[in-house]
Amino acid sequence: MSGYQALYQQSIDDPEAFWGEAAAGLHWDKPWDSVLDSDAKPVPRWFVGGQMNTCFNAVDRHVDAGRGDQAAIIYDSPVTGQKRQYTYNELRDAVASFAGALRAQGVGKGDRVLVYMPMIPEAAIAMLATARLGAIHSVVFGGFAANELATRVNDAKPKVIVSASCGIEPNRVVAYKPLLDEAIRLSAHKPSACIIKARPQAEAPLVEGRDLDWDAAAEAAEPAECVPVAATDPLYILYTSGTTGQPKGVVRDNGGHAVAIHWTMKNIYNVQPGDVYWAASDVGWVVGHSYIVYGPLLAGCTTVIYEGKPVGTPDPGAFWRVISEYGVKVLFTAPTAFRAIKKEDPEGTFLEKYDLSCMHTLFLAGERCDPDTLFWARDKLGKPVVDHWWQTETGWAIAANPIGIEPMEIKPGSPTVAMPGYDVRILSEEGEEMADGDMGNIVIKLPLPPSCLPTLWGNDQRFIDSYLSKYEGYYLTGDAGYRDKDGYLWIMSRTDDVINVAGHRLSTGGMEEVLAGHPDVAECAVIGVADALKGQLPLGMIVLKAGVERDHDELKKELVKRVRELIGPVAAFKLVTIVKRLPKTRSGKILRGTMVKIADGEEFKVPATIDDPAILDEITESLKSLGYAGS
Ligand code: COA
Ligand code: AMP
Repeated sequence: MSGYQALYQQSIDDPEAFWGEAAAGLHWDKPWDSVLDSDAKPVPRWFVGGQMNTCFNAVDRHVDAGRGDQAAIIYDSPVTGQKRQYTYNELRDAVASFAGALRAQGVGKGDRVLVYMPMIPEAAIAMLATARLGAIHSVVFGGFAANELATRVNDAKPKVIVSASCGIEPNRVVAYKPLLDEAIRLSAHKPSACIIKARPQAEAPLVEGRDLDWDAAAEAAEPAECVPVAATDPLYILYTSGTTGQPKGVVRDNGGHAVAIHWTMKNIYNVQPGDVYWAASDVGWVVGHSYIVYGPLLAGCTTVIYEGKPVGTPDPGAFWRVISEYGVKVLFTAPTAFRAIKKEDPEGTFLEKYDLSCMHTLFLAGERCDPDTLFWARDKLGKPVVDHWWQTETGWAIAANPIGIEPMEIKPGSPTVAMPGYDVRILSEEGEEMADGDMGNIVIKLPLPPSCLPTLWGNDQRFIDSYLSKYEGYYLTGDAGYRDKDGYLWIMSRTDDVINVAGHRLSTGGMEEVLAGHPDVAECAVIGVADALKGQLPLGMIVLKAGVERDHDELKKELVKRVRELIGPVAAFKLVTIVKRLPKTRSGKILRGTMVKIADGEEFKVPATIDDPAILDEITESLKSLGYAGS
C-alpha cells in the first residue's frame, strides 16, 4: 500500500499490522507477544512482551551492518572554535566505555541518570550509555537555574548526575558546577555520584567522595555491553512545563519510541542511512532527544551537534556554513531561529556565500509557524519548508507533510495532515465533534501511537487528570484549532497556561508562583504577549501589598532577577508592570485571556462576568507603558 491516505487509513483501521510492520526494521532480542495491549491502564501499551535495547539499535546495529567507518556524530562548535567527528565505531567505543563508568557507580536497569549538559558530544554519549545499561535518562536543559534542576532531581531521584564544567553562551561562560552543587544542596534526594566533563573554559572543583572526572572515569572503566529491556520499560523521562511550577515528567518507553522515531526518518523526513540530518535545537528539549540523538542514529544517518546560535556565532550565515560544510540534507529548527536570521540579514546576502545544493527540505516546529517566516525561508532557500506540529508528550509529529510518503500541497500556517496512528478530533467544550473550519479543543482518540507517553513519572493520577479526564477515551493535547475541508489541521493557541518563547515551552503559572513568593507582591498575573522575534514573551503584572512604598524600577529589577535565578535565563522574563488591581470575574478568576488580547492590540469583548470593567482601562495604560496594547 502506498500514498498518504491509504497508509493513514491502515494505521487507524489496523494499528497492529501497521506498527508491527514498522517494528520489523529494528533488532529485537525477543519478539513481542502482542503489538498492542488495548486493555492496559491508564492507556494501551505497545510491543508488550518484546525485548530490545535502544542503544544497540542506534549504534551497535550499524557497526555490525558494516557502517562502522561512517560518521555518526559531527560536532561543530563556533563558540569554542572546535570541530570533531565520531564514526559509528568510535561512538560505540565511547558509549560502551562511559556505560562502564556508570555501571561502576552502581547504575543498572531502571536506575535514573540525570544529564545536565551543554551541546557537546558527551551529552549524547551519556544518554546512549544510560540506555545501553537499561537505565533511564533525564536530560535537563542548561538554561534552567539550580531551583528547577533541584525539582527534577527530587522527582527523578537519579543515582548519578552527569554534567560538565560549563556551557557557553555567546555573551558568557555559564559555569554549570555551582548550579549543580546548589541544586543538590536544595534537593532532598542526593545522587551517589556526579561525573563531570571538564572543559577548558571553566574549572570545576570536584567534591571528594561524590564527584568524578569524566575522562578518568571512562578510561578506567570496563566497556559495557547492551542490556536487553522490555519494550515497555522507560528509556527516558523528560520534564516539560505544565500549568503549575511543578514540571511534568513525560515518560518514554523503549520499544514504541524506537519504532515510531525510526519510521519517521524515511516517511516524514525522507532520509536514508548515510544522509546528514541536522536538528538545530538542544538535547534538553524533545526535538533534541528525537532528532539530534535517537532519530538520525536509529536510521544510520549522520547527526550534527551544533554548539552555537543561528546569529552572532559569528554571523547570520552560520546555518548555511554548517549545511554546506557537512552536506546536510535536512535541517530541522524552530521558526524563531529563522526570524532571528531574517532580522539580521533580511536580503539573505549571507546565503550567497554558500552552496546549499545538498539540502532538500527545511522542517520547522516547536511553535506556530507564521506564514511570513515560512515565505521568507522558502524564497531565500528555494527549498520546500515544512511546518509540523508535535509536543514533548508525543515525541514525534502529530501533524506533518509526509515528504517521504507523498509530498502534499503546503498551506502556509497549517502543519498539514495527521500522521499515521493519530486519530485527531476537534471537540467542543461539551465533547461534540466540530464542523470543518470551527475551532475547538484538539484531542487524539486512544490508542495513542507508539512513542507517546504512557504516563507521567511516578504519577499516573496527574497523567489521567491532565490528559485523559476531560473527554473519556481521548488524549487532550492542550492546543486549540480546527480542521479545514481538505483535512488540514490548523493549530491556533494553547488552552492552558503554557506559552512558547523562542520555541521553548514555559509555564506562566510557574512564573506567577515565583513572583508571588516575593515579599512585596500581593498578587500577580503572567501572560504571553506576541513578540516579533521570539513568538511570545512573558509579561508580569504585579499588585503590591498594601503599604509597600518602594521605588518601582528597583522592585521590577528584583522581580526580573528572581525569575532568572529561580527558573533560569531561558524564561526570558524581562517585562514587568505594577498595577493597582487585576481584572477579574465576579467569582475571582483573573481574566488573562482578555489581557493578552489587549496587549496584542486585538479586538476583544468585555467579558459579561467582569467584576469592574474600568480596570481594563488601567491595564491598557500600563501595557502601553511597556510598548504593548497598540502603543
Ligand atoms: N544555557 C544557559 N543559558 C541559556 C541557554 C543554555 N543552554 N540557552 C539560552 N540561554 C540563555 C540565553 O543566553 C539568554 O540569556 P540572556 O538573557 O542573558 O541573553 C536567555 O537564556 C534567553 O535565551 P533565548 O530565548 O534563546 O534568547 P537568545 O536571545 O539567546 O537567542 C534565538 C534567541 C532566537 C537566537 C534563540 O532562541 C534560538 O536559537 N532559538 C532556536 C530555537 C530552538 O532551538 N528551539 C528549541 C526547540 S526546536
Ligand atoms: P513542546 O512540548 O516544547 O514541543 O511544545 C509543544 C507545544 O508547542 C504544542 O502543544 C504547541 O502548542 C506548540 N507547537 C509545537 N509545534 C507547533 C506547530 N508546528 N504549530 C503550532 N504550535 C506548535
